[in-house]
Amino acid sequence: MLLAALYCLLWNFQTSVGHFPRACASSKNLMEKECCPPWRGDWSPCGQLSGRGSCQDILLSNAPSGPQFPFTGVDDRESWPSVFYNRTCQCFGNFMGFNCGNCKFGFRGPNCTQRQFLVRRSIFDLSAPEKNKFLAYLTLAKHTTSPDYVIPIGTYGQMNNGSTPMFKDITIYDLFVWMHYYVSRDTLLGGSEIWKDVDFAHEAPGFLPWHRLFLLLWEQEIQKLTGDENFTIPYWDWRDAENCDICTDEYMGGHNPANPNLLSPASVFSSWQIVCSQLDEYNSRQALCNGTPEGPILRNPGNHDKARTPRLPSSGDVEFCLSLTQYESGSMDKAANFSFRNTLEEIYLKI
Ligand SMILES: *[C@@H]1O[C@H](CO)[C@@H](O)[C@H](O)[C@H]1NC(C)=O
Ligand SMILES: *[C@@H]1O[C@H](CO)[C@@H](O)[C@H](O)[C@H]1NC(C)=O
Ligand SMILES: *[C@@H]1O[C@H](CO)[C@@H](O)[C@H](O)[C@H]1NC(C)=O
Ligand SMILES: *[C@@H]1O[C@H](CO)[C@@H](O)[C@H](O)[C@H]1NC(C)=O
Ligand SMILES: *[C@@H]1O[C@H](CO)[C@@H](O)[C@H](O)[C@H]1NC(C)=O
Repeated sequence: MLLAALYCLLWNFQTSVGHFPRACASSKNLMEKECCPPWRGDWSPCGQLSGRGSCQDILLSNAPSGPQFPFTGVDDRESWPSVFYNRTCQCFGNFMGFNCGNCKFGFRGPNCTQRQFLVRRSIFDLSAPEKNKFLAYLTLAKHTTSPDYVIPIGTYGQMNNGSTPMFKDITIYDLFVWMHYYVSRDTLLGGSEIWKDVDFAHEAPGFLPWHRLFLLLWEQEIQKLTGDENFTIPYWDWRDAENCDICTDEYMGGHNPANPNLLSPASVFSSWQIVCSQLDEYNSRQALCNGTPEGPILRNPGNHDKARTPRLPSSGDVEFCLSLTQYESGSMDKAANFSFRNTLEEIYLKI
């Protein structure tokens, strides 16, 4: 799917992550196109009584158009989020979030004024209890319904332009799987028509900022879920690894001896069900992923299918990528191999 994706139309990336606050999923919100929920601290919309933010019309820059998406008015993600909402909370100072109830990344405290530095650590530098805590957080997120967000299971048109809302609960972990699906899914044009050359998060300048925001939001949801305000996602340093060295039962799951595409039964992840994997099936129904479990995790880790992934990236690959000074080359030129973004994304696709 990532390889098939051609373009990202980066319109307003701050809000294009695809969050639907539970508090804004009613037909009233959709008909009025307003999403300005109360902040729990004072119950005023956007915490405005406490000076956290205010409810404002959204301002969008003009959407670029091009051969990658020769349409207007057919996809709910165009000029995000204006198909669903045209008034949202604009937060002041260090406040952030759909109701200005959160602090901007890097700040905390009752008024979001304390600077907070968090450090991401190599997964192999975690002690066994720290590593087990990380796996326990993932398991908890996989099984806990998101209190704050729901997913739409139909397009705006399928919701009769908002008069019949179609939203569903989803777990915190699966919410992020769903968001990644939603931003890169194909456009449903009705009948049996699909437009595949659209992607709002890959193979274009938005790749890095979109995924950075995505991971920060995921980290923040885990912090809120667990009360562990210092939680950070550990990283895997795959440079020069001969094999997928986190593909063991202590870490992200070893191979199932009976079927190398499945995880070992001893892994905590072997009981997980994936969501949002049946893209052609949704397309054939002109439907969206609705979060239904779709079977066990299938994996092609770096060392399994040598044809698909001959090797993990080397230190040399990383040095080369870091030596590139041009962030993006040309106007979304797929043949321009040697921009920083394009080279980095190729490394990402290898992993
Ligand atoms: C926002 O949407 C509502 C409902 O469709 C409409 O009445 C209003 O004029 C829109 N506001 C702006 C600023 O576009
Ligand atoms: C936070 O801001 C409010 C309103 O400005 C103020 O009354 C309160 O004392 C502040 N709290 C702290 C801990 O700074
Ligand atoms: C939804 O809005 C579109 C565009 O304004 C309009 O053409 C269509 O008839 C509306 N559909 C319903 C069910 O209201
Ligand atoms: C988070 O880290 C800070 C120091 O940076 C520490 O003061 C605080 O107690 C930690 N919080 C928790 C919940 O461990
Ligand atoms: C990109 O790579 C292809 C294949 O290696 C090569 O033919 C092409 O000239 C390269 N383009 C640029 C802009 O370097």
